[in-house]
Amino acid sequence: MKSDGQQLLFHDSTARAGQVTGRREMLTFKANRDLGRHGWLRLTPAYSRHLVQRLVKGLTPGSRVLDPFCGTGTTALTCAEQGIPCDTVDVNPFLIWLANAKFATYLPSDLRAVTEFANKLHLIESGAAPWYPPIKDIEKWWSAADLNALGRLFSAIKQVEFGEQARNLLFSAFCRTAIETAAVSFGHQSMSFKAKTSQQILAACDNAASLRNLFKRRLAEIVNAAETPVGTGLAKAFLGDARVLDMLPVGKYSCVITSPPYPNRMSYVRELRPYMYWLGFLQDGRQAGELDWKAIGGTWGCATSNLTRWQPESEADVASDGFATIVKRIGDHSRILSLYVHKYFTDCMLHFRALTHRLCDGATVYYVVGNSRFYDVMVPTEQIYRDIMVHSGFHGVAVENIRKRSSKKELFEFVVSGTFR
Ligand SMILES: C[S@@+](CC[C@H](N)C(=O)[O-])C[C@H]1O[C@@H](n2cnc3c(N)ncnc32)[C@H](O)[C@@H]1O
Repeated sequence: MKSDGQQLLFHDSTARAGQVTGRREMLTFKANRDLGRHGWLRLTPAYSRHLVQRLVKGLTPGSRVLDPFCGTGTTALTCAEQGIPCDTVDVNPFLIWLANAKFATYLPSDLRAVTEFANKLHLIESGAAPWYPPIKDIEKWWSAADLNALGRLFSAIKQVEFGEQARNLLFSAFCRTAIETAAVSFGHQSMSFKAKTSQQILAACDNAASLRNLFKRRLAEIVNAAETPVGTGLAKAFLGDARVLDMLPVGKYSCVITSPPYPNRMSYVRELRPYMYWLGFLQDGRQAGELDWKAIGGTWGCATSNLTRWQPESEADVASDGFATIVKRIGDHSRILSLYVHKYFTDCMLHFRALTHRLCDGATVYYVVGNSRFYDVMVPTEQIYRDIMVHSGFHGVAVENIRKRSSKKELFEFVVSGTFR
């Protein structure tokens, strides 16, 4: 994809003709796995800190960055590591908890408390009755023995009186342990259940001790990363809606680096629900659906039935030529999917309307977005974002294709960038 006269940000000159970048993994969550606090918890649609590092390179002193779609907090954590202030927002309270835990400064006393806890864990656990979260069909997630071991571990963490920061470290290590012992696979863009092999089932018989050891290893990694502070107070995560953003100051941000959900029907609540139930952010399926309805592109549980009743506000017409035709062509196959795409981009319009009040003149914005396909209809997300940005007062709007997303030859990830006023 040609960029409108702007310098290409991610072009890899060593890649063969027609190949966007030779090092796709450098741009995805995979590059964060072993990087201290960045690796605390996996979210498949997260981008890598390398991508953010490249984008913040040109920022002038005094710049303040905003990421209105926080996810795991990659933008804000990377900014804080570089000494740049960054605020970030997400509609999902679990992700706000996680991000603030990753940004926090930990006192030596917090780190000592959790290490002492790990050393005495077998004793504390022996007196703990297991606690189980209200996850539907929980037996699909963990074998009975693993679940019992997790339930006892969780009760042991709850039993001891810790300060908030120490507890956050323990909960982060607990989440890692819970997902690594779950019968799920991450082969696709979101997670799915997988059958356990007989070897894994046999290994699980010895689970109380092996799960405890796994937890201790993950905790040690987390404590190790927590020992190095990252720019105290520079990164802050706020619970809120990117279509409103009223918790943020007006006219203050000089740069936006973000990745909104893609219009691909992936549900973040669905992906994150095991953690959310364990840590008490969700109590039942109704709450999960209600939260997904607040999320842009959310499509889980009652979010789908709400969509059948949804109608666009006339003043939020999607400002992109050809958009109405795309919606109509998808509607020839499925009314619900045409409503889904229509609402997704209407929400983007609302987001940009809220965002522009928060930017200072000359602010640069970078949106990492992905295209989609419904039936035989391509949804050129990058072009629609470009049009919405031009309509919202940005100039020099450029689109750069940065990587192929999957084995499907037509799905790509793009950076859409522009300058405000
Ligand atoms: C692609 S992910 C961001 C990933 C992030 N760049 C990272 O590296 O982890 C998109 C995020 O947007 C959030 N989101 C969806 N709708 C939102 C809304 N209305 N307001 C704020 N955040 C929203 C989702 O919860 C999800 O965490």
